[in-house]
Amino acid sequence: MKVLVTGGLGFIGSHTVVALQNKGYEVVIIDNLSNSSIEVLDGITKITGIQPAFEKIDLRDKNKVVDFFNRHTDLAGIIHFAASKAVNESVQKPLLYYENNITTLIYLLQQMQVHALQNFIFSSSCTVYGEPDKLPITEKDPVKPALSPYGNTKQIGEEIIRDSSKAYGLKAIALRYFNPIGAHPSALIGELPNGVPQNLIPFITQTAIGKRAQLSVFGDDYPTEDGTAIRDYIHVVDLAQSHVVAMERLIQKKNKSNFEIFNIGTGRGSSVMEIIKAFEKVNNLKLNYKIVDRREGDVVAVWADTSFAEKELGWKAQLSMEDALRDAWQWELKLAQK
Ligand code: WQD
Repeated sequence: MKVLVTGGLGFIGSHTVVALQNKGYEVVIIDNLSNSSIEVLDGITKITGIQPAFEKIDLRDKNKVVDFFNRHTDLAGIIHFAASKAVNESVQKPLLYYENNITTLIYLLQQMQVHALQNFIFSSSCTVYGEPDKLPITEKDPVKPALSPYGNTKQIGEEIIRDSSKAYGLKAIALRYFNPIGAHPSALIGELPNGVPQNLIPFITQTAIGKRAQLSVFGDDYPTEDGTAIRDYIHVVDLAQSHVVAMERLIQKKNKSNFEIFNIGTGRGSSVMEIIKAFEKVNNLKLNYKIVDRREGDVVAVWADTSFAEKELGWKAQLSMEDALRDAWQWELKLAQK
């Protein structure tokens, strides 16, 4: 069976392509290489021994999208990652985010309707919950007004999919990721941040390798045990596997409604300081960091209640935050050799 993975050369996309191939799926990737590199295709191929089909297409080019679907009429489903995802960039360039993240989703869903293609997995985010009223967060907790245009595109995306699943018989699953971290244990694929990393783990590994002088910890005056903010850090390999499980749920028609939403996290929260200490311990090194002011827009604490995914999807994270910190460091070391 053939699955389209948009953004399949990106961080989560590439790990999902590997997981799909390992499960015996044929994969075709669409990526515009705006936030990924063609070398990722080699990494995937080295891991699985199978080179996925790849087409360099910008999903904003409607004619190219129409042409792609006219040439690929044997798809079993789509896993849609391709989107812009930098929170603070979205505040500076909202229209780029609405164009890239919403228009492309509409073009894909239109083609699914034209070709009577039903199975769709959407890359969503825990950011839709904003600052939660209670923890852990369940899928029934309210979606809060978005804290950024990026987060808003995820909320709007879910609403577009909800309406389309009612009107056109689309069968969709939205996976709300918590904080994806780590790299494939082979160190052949991993995170490739563009420029200065916004996210904690790539900034940590680049500081440890010497690419960054020092990690700034954004605030230690939060109402948490050690004063630093808490997140649910999930290994990207576990996150990738959740996409395969979700796609199989739809292919095997096990879905219980035409639009289902699942939190994909570990169910455990870790503070920034816990991450730093764990990183130093598992990789036997000292990290240079300093405490600075809070970052605008950061929430205090967020972690998932994953019981719905465990019960309905039969999926549970298998790897620990420490595994992810070890794999992220091995990946950074491999990058330094290039
Ligand atoms: C984690 C923690 C920071 C960098 C974002 C997006 C979310 C998703 C994941 C796309 C926070 C602290 C960070 C640094 C620090 N992306 N930090 N120093 O903000 O939880 O989530 O990425 O879907 O949508 O919002 O992740 O890694 O940026 O921050 O102290 O140099 O690390 O304050 O507490 P975040 P993050």
